[in-house]
Amino acid sequence: MSLKRTDYGGLLGKKDIDRTVVLAGWVQSYRDHGGVVFIDLRDRHGIVQAVFHPEQTQAHAVARQLRNEDVALVRGRITARGPGAVNPKIPTGEIEVIADQVELVNKADPVPFSPVQHESVSEDTRLKYRYVDLRRRDMTEAMVLRHRVYKIIRDFCDEHGFLEIETPILYKSTPEGAREFLVPARLHSGEFYALPQSPQLFKQILMVAGLDRYMQIARCFRDEDLRADRQPEFTQLDLEMSFVDRDDVMGLTTALLARLWKQVLGVTLPMPFPRLTWREAMDRYGVDRPDTRFAMELCDVGAIAAQSDFAVFKQALAQGDRVQMIAVPGGGTMTRKQLDQLTEEAKKLGAKGLAWLKLGGEAGAANMGGPIAKFFSAARQQELRRLTGAGDGDLLLAVADALEVCWRTLGELRQLLARLLNLIPPNRHDFVWIVDFPCFERNAAGPGAPRLIARHHPFTAPLDEDIPWLAGQPEKVRAKAYDIVLNGVEIGGGSIRIHQRKTQFEIFSLLGISAQEAQKKFAFLLDALRFGAPPHGGIALGLDRLLMLMLNRQSIRDVIAFPKTQSGRDLMTQAPCAVDPRQLQELAIGVLRPPA
Ligand code: AMO
Ligand code: AMP
Repeated sequence: MSLKRTDYGGLLGKKDIDRTVVLAGWVQSYRDHGGVVFIDLRDRHGIVQAVFHPEQTQAHAVARQLRNEDVALVRGRITARGPGAVNPKIPTGEIEVIADQVELVNKADPVPFSPVQHESVSEDTRLKYRYVDLRRRDMTEAMVLRHRVYKIIRDFCDEHGFLEIETPILYKSTPEGAREFLVPARLHSGEFYALPQSPQLFKQILMVAGLDRYMQIARCFRDEDLRADRQPEFTQLDLEMSFVDRDDVMGLTTALLARLWKQVLGVTLPMPFPRLTWREAMDRYGVDRPDTRFAMELCDVGAIAAQSDFAVFKQALAQGDRVQMIAVPGGGTMTRKQLDQLTEEAKKLGAKGLAWLKLGGEAGAANMGGPIAKFFSAARQQELRRLTGAGDGDLLLAVADALEVCWRTLGELRQLLARLLNLIPPNRHDFVWIVDFPCFERNAAGPGAPRLIARHHPFTAPLDEDIPWLAGQPEKVRAKAYDIVLNGVEIGGGSIRIHQRKTQFEIFSLLGISAQEAQKKFAFLLDALRFGAPPHGGIALGLDRLLMLMLNRQSIRDVIAFPKTQSGRDLMTQAPCAVDPRQLQELAIGVLRPPA
């Protein structure tokens, strides 16, 4: 390289006119307009047009050889573009660089796809050639914003007295919820480290150590089945504070989110954020991470259904089940086929069926249509309208089942229909705190498994007033836990922790962890609770999800530089992969089912 970069081309503008600059970057497009060659040169900040006139013989000759994604250095003078040549679509559209020297630094082979035309490119190809994909404006922007978000978080936490402390990645296998990744310990044959699902216990120990306020932008590892908003390794903003209650943690988190939205998106969030108890969220939305951007709330119509002639509803009520409905605005136009598909969806979610009623339309304004309408007298139909708030042109969907099945089915259908019928208003940032979760949930795992599992994690403190129920009716005990939900996505969760050893043992025992087992797995925590543990609590925000929502992206993979696919593969490096048998030998490990 004989030239040395002086400026980023993407940052140039009218202020730079008449300056002579040296730019470095990638050729994004090449056009030869009857002798004059135009090149868009791209760097991290954007593109700028470089112009090569034939009079500059040497530069012109080199420029003619440049093709897409070649790396080049260009020297030239910044000039204003003629009025007809201004390109309002790019920030540097008012200027161009009249080149007098150019250097082809590295010729590129034809790239598998162009960073400007990626729409038709499969995600697998994008992931395989991630370095090309990251050159795309969208991806570069995601990386830049991710950095800015981290910077704002660190500044905020520093101002609020938090210490950034790293915790180990090679950790110990401890049941915390998800399946763990294991790492064989070569120096201790047959023994394993585990990768942390979160720094949960380390941050609690840091509170016992008196460090008072901890933060970490922490990588977490969970060997889970992946979905669009899950990765096997993901990043949390992990926080823990001593001598605090729930309001302190929620207040601080709210202030941090408000600052991020203000500084990154220019949006002023109304504070404080609304709060719903878990029970309220379930009753109204059927899920514990409600999307509150649209209504379509669940409605218990048991009292009216009891007076109908529909045997399915009456039998359900007789055996203690519920009858619940949602009113779908404008759903009256849905076809029979669509309704059959919804019914199939409902069955997949565990419901025995899905009943529907159409309001107004062909059946006449006064009457409802659909196969079960005849079971409801005119008076009952009026009551249904009143209770559900449904009007002409709307659709009522009903499920008769156990309460949890009604919640799950109608809660999921509500979200699915909102997307299908475009009921979600754009540009909304609806935050809501969910509080008072049940401490425990019934374990679906087979016989022999413990009856209860912790809904958040086993270190979460119960509400003081619910402690008397621990012994007899643990399912009624609520937790000092809170989740923060944005537009129907859980972006974070935390709790006030147990800081008394006795309570911790009690919770372990309810979860089927004997005192002996607890000693074996959590001796360090139980010891620490003996030697001066302050009351403490905290939260973790899922930064990948947060960024996905801030940037309005469809998947968290679009805000992670090197994500894994839905099946946990890194398509660029081809991990995971088989290893050299000698490595396994050293680790004293045999593979039962080697890859084909
Ligand atoms: P929790 O398990 O709720 O809490 O995790 C906190 C947040 O992390 C995000 N998250 C994920 N993001 C991407 N991929 C995943 N596989 C994934 N799993 C979770 C979610 C979630 O809300 N130690 C506790 C926090 C605490 O109690 O302080 C914890 O990890 O946005
Ligand atoms: P059936 O009497 O089983 O033919 O059902 C009549 C209608 O009621 C069909 O549209 C079913 O999908 C619906 N249905 C059946 N069971 C339930 C249920 N538990 N909740 C809501 N709708 C149901």
